[in-house]
Amino acid sequence: MNKINFVIIGTGMIAPAHADAINSIERACLYGVCGRNSEKTAEFAKKYGVKCYNSYEEVLSDGNVDAVSICTPSGYHAEQAIQALHHGKNVIVEKPMALNTADCDRIIEAVKETGKTLAVICQLRFSEDVQRVKKLYEEGAFGTVSLCDLYMKYWREPSYYAENTWRGTKALDGGGALMNQGIHGIDLLLYITGGAKLISARTKTAYHDIEVEDTAVALLEYPNGAAGVIEGSTCTYPGFERSLEIHGSSGYVVLKSGIIEKLVLDGKDITPKNDDAERHNSSSDPKATGFLRHAKEYENFIAAINGEEELLIDACEGKKAVELIESIYETSADM
Ligand SMILES: NC(=O)c1ccc[n+]([C@@H]2O[C@H](COP(=O)([O-])OP(=O)(O)OC[C@H]3O[C@@H](n4cnc5c(N)ncnc54)[C@H](O)[C@@H]3O)[C@@H](O)[C@H]2O)c1
Repeated sequence: MNKINFVIIGTGMIAPAHADAINSIERACLYGVCGRNSEKTAEFAKKYGVKCYNSYEEVLSDGNVDAVSICTPSGYHAEQAIQALHHGKNVIVEKPMALNTADCDRIIEAVKETGKTLAVICQLRFSEDVQRVKKLYEEGAFGTVSLCDLYMKYWREPSYYAENTWRGTKALDGGGALMNQGIHGIDLLLYITGGAKLISARTKTAYHDIEVEDTAVALLEYPNGAAGVIEGSTCTYPGFERSLEIHGSSGYVVLKSGIIEKLVLDGKDITPKNDDAERHNSSSDPKATGFLRHAKEYENFIAAINGEEELLIDACEGKKAVELIESIYETSADM
């Protein structure tokens, strides 16, 4: 069995989740790492017992490397992904895949041109509860759906932005409460409901000293006629778990951090017993990310490379949340 050799690019907060995910999969091999800070990168390489590359070019010209896992600040994702594809590498790129739809389209084009596989990390889609809710929604189990709402009332200390120079910048974060923290919830909302039309939106920088929004609200309409809101903030102390709520004429569901908190259908409470092993609440702790769902996405990625499964989150899927967030920013700027 040929293993897929991965090199992680960027060795910050999310990189260990990728390393642990890769190490948990038989058909994957963590082959190396490449970062900007040579001391930190060498430390990471030593911890995981893998090769330490000195530059991205060195990674891309190494014929032993099958895939790169891009874990750098978001503003670098598009260029790094496109470069890797054109060097014949497969790519796993952290969310957001790019900071705007034009760059998403350039990535989609590069995938088409090279025939390589590219997946965008949206690990919450791999939650069994999310899959179940999507199926119930598509089967019409909630009756006539009136509301689909997403609340992401997070708390980030001012130091979260101050201590890391790329966070909260237009050039490298591309947005705040929505493009960074909120994109997970927005991706799920669109995935479950099959898309949404933006009616109106408002963003503001309410509390933090940053270039991008730390608070946003949007009004939506869904293809089945339901209405809904998105609320996202990083100023809501002490931080509340992300909540996605669907209400219809024959039932409702509340998903918290991708786990069913409450499911009521036809008058019966059928809330499943939760396995909290995969429940990670990052509402006040940005480090609260496990690796199990990342591992599921890696498994799907490898199976797709081998032609065994369809890729669940390709570049077109990854673009959907960026597209809605971009239109929220544009709508708000017009107000
Ligand atoms: N899926 C999730 O749940 C999740 C969680 C956190 C972060 N993220 C995403 O992961 C990405 C990284 O976030 P983070 O919190 O780990 O950031 P971070 O600042 O902690 O880490 C980024 C790392 O990239 C390195 N770096 C910067 N520029 C580089 C370059 N040009 N080449 C190679 N390395 C470079 C930095 O030295 C740093 O080690 C972001 O896009 C973020 O949105 C995803």
